[in-house]
Amino acid sequence: MDLQLNGKTAVVTGGSKGIGLAVVRLLQEEGVSVVAASRRTTPELEETKATHVAVDLTTAEGASHLIERATAELGGIDLLVNNVGVGDADDFLRGTASLTDLPDDAWRHTFDLHFYSALWVTRAALPSLVERRGTVVNVSSIAARLMSSGAADYSVSKAALNALTKIIAEQYGEQGVRANSVSPGPVSTGVWTDPDGVLARMAKAQGASHEDFVKQTLQGLDSSTGRISTPEEVARLIVFAASPNNITGAELIVDGGIIKEL
Ligand SMILES: NC(=O)c1ccc[n+]([C@@H]2O[C@H](COP(=O)([O-])OP(=O)(O)OC[C@H]3O[C@@H](n4cnc5c(N)ncnc54)[C@H](OP(=O)(O)O)[C@@H]3O)[C@@H](O)[C@H]2O)c1
Repeated sequence: MDLQLNGKTAVVTGGSKGIGLAVVRLLQEEGVSVVAASRRTTPELEETKATHVAVDLTTAEGASHLIERATAELGGIDLLVNNVGVGDADDFLRGTASLTDLPDDAWRHTFDLHFYSALWVTRAALPSLVERRGTVVNVSSIAARLMSSGAADYSVSKAALNALTKIIAEQYGEQGVRANSVSPGPVSTGVWTDPDGVLARMAKAQGASHEDFVKQTLQGLDSSTGRISTPEEVARLIVFAASPNNITGAELIVDGGIIKEL
């Protein structure tokens, strides 16, 4: 299937590894010129043809700097993938504390990374997106629907991101801009697989082996397929959402059947 993306331009936040890197690669296969943003580059990103912008997206200045650099490099932006997230394992894990123990600075950091980064980058890119009748894909999470487990600040920030997606779709739809969320369940990125990642640290805190803890967590999530998604499977849905179609304001889920309700 020709996704009709050849010759387009894209900005992918959090593009140096995991889901973002898979999106960068797939967009390039479709003939898209890509600017990828993260604090550091990686050998894997260096191997692609993407331009890397080193930036901290927990600041408004970082977000506007990214779009300035991307506009200079690409001439304009057709596709924006707000994928940045998770961040440093310690920061992420703070969110598993109870409300009484979770300080305001943790909430602020989590919202800066997962919600405000998308708001700031989108706002800076909107003049270009409107001019080119472009598309925004926000990478959310099924955590926005699962309030009973995991990090509270993360779940709430992803729910806010889903709401922002609908607002972008609503406010800019008549000007030709579409916006959708893609919500993955567990994905085999460093969060789950790194020996020092989020799951490995949770396992250590409970005195379990990394492997057993991952198995137990997946069982607890009751996925229908019984397996974790690959970054490439998630990237395919993101790139499809970014391709020309009439889907907007939607949340597209790729979770192996964890979310059961209609
Ligand atoms: N993996 C999962 O199971 C899963 C499930 C549901 C949703 N998601 C969502 O999918 C997205 C990608 O997750 P992932 O698993 O691919 O994560 P990942 O492998 O940890 O990649 C995160 C990316 O974001 C960048 N990043 C982190 N903090 C940053 C900051 N302050 N400023 C700029 N860039 C920053 C990282 O590079 P640097 O560290 O060098 O900055 C990296 O490029 C996130 O929004 C996450 O919430 C993931």
